Amino acid sequence: MTESMKPIQVGLLGIGTVGSGTFNVLRRNQEEIKRRAGRGIEITMVADLDTARASAAVGEGVQVVSDARAVIANPDIDIVIELIGGYGIAKQLVMEAIAAGKHVVTANKALLAVHGTEIFEAAQAKGVMVAFEAAVAGGIPIIKALREGLTANSIQWIAGIINGTTNFILSEMRDKGLDFATVLKEAQRLGYAEADPTFDIEGVDAAHKVTLMSAIAFGIPVQFAKAHVEGITKLAAQDIKYAEQLGYRIKLLGITRRAAGGIELRVHPALVPAKRLLANVEGAMNAVVVHGDAVGTTLYYGKGAGSEPTASAVIADLVDITRLHTADAAQRVPHLAFHPNAMSDHLDVLPMRDVVTSYYLRLRVADEAGVLARVTGLLANAGISIDAVLQREADEVGGEGSTQTDLIILTHDTKEGTVDDALAELQALPSVLAPIVRIRKEELS
Ligand code: HSE
Repeated sequence: MTESMKPIQVGLLGIGTVGSGTFNVLRRNQEEIKRRAGRGIEITMVADLDTARASAAVGEGVQVVSDARAVIANPDIDIVIELIGGYGIAKQLVMEAIAAGKHVVTANKALLAVHGTEIFEAAQAKGVMVAFEAAVAGGIPIIKALREGLTANSIQWIAGIINGTTNFILSEMRDKGLDFATVLKEAQRLGYAEADPTFDIEGVDAAHKVTLMSAIAFGIPVQFAKAHVEGITKLAAQDIKYAEQLGYRIKLLGITRRAAGGIELRVHPALVPAKRLLANVEGAMNAVVVHGDAVGTTLYYGKGAGSEPTASAVIADLVDITRLHTADAAQRVPHLAFHPNAMSDHLDVLPMRDVVTSYYLRLRVADEAGVLARVTGLLANAGISIDAVLQREADEVGGEGSTQTDLIILTHDTKEGTVDDALAELQALPSVLAPIVRIRKEELS
């Protein structure tokens, strides 16, 4: 380390929770970070529309401006951190920072999952780095692990709990037997869920993150538009209970898998065997399981959000860039792990009908002779093999004297399209009295 080398200068766009955390951790650990990076790292300029809040957060010696473009235009700034979020102004600023020859660190999963191809191409052409460890699973260094630690492997699949808000809600639903809407309100009151939680509860946030992991794992372009996205809003407390009775927990999983005909890319609630470590990730915690052909199964667990956990990832990117920015651009770790000219053009994302997995089905049926036989007969005709069946007593389901009951069926692996067609037929049976509930099941073995 050259003592005389001046610190690398960083400009920060948007100082909310993560930005403040980045300041605090950089300050607190500055000596150790300098010893690792080989050079000091200083945030010298901050842009935020709320300059009063920004000034209070950063203290003396840091220039605070309301215009983000003033940061990008400053020739002394080497790295721009984008913490604004969203696809709008954040995209323009990231593109402008790249055009100005700045390296970029961002936590913006939405931006990269949707516009990553354009952004990485621009960065490549300009010879700058766009680092995004904080975009997936907050403080867990999963991008580093996939892009560097596991490069020997042919990655087979990734399954992750990569949205803390929904994992908190599901944990509460299970613990307290409450329904989704009640727990969501409580989560908002406690600050676990945003005032507008749409991206979290509808699975969009998790889909952004798994889209990025999929690109890195399989060397394919980011293709958020091809992801299958299902959230947790329709989950009923009774399905969580039935799953438990069958030895499973329901989690919102982001899954990407190398399958026979292409790549699976999907987010949806799934039954996971209760004995799996992933099933025991509770509250707002995140965890990602990666299966590589050489290493086998590896698990990464930690905080997926929050001020200092996310700052930990942002600063890791700052250190990486500080170490590598003088290296020949061709020698740096590629943005998506594979060299741009070696990205795969033959692995397409599979339509959901071609995905093969197993299923939990719940049918509200009339409690009368022959129903079970008709249902199982129809499944047999469709070639769907049953793994387990659970039927509750009618009184337990609908109260004393009830003439309805719940029939729960677990299937073996089947093509989703086959299940779609069979469910349409089952739904038309007169003894099936309510919309059939279908939740996918992932053994993760
Ligand atoms: N809203 C996300 C979550 C954190 O609940 O996990 C940021 O990605």
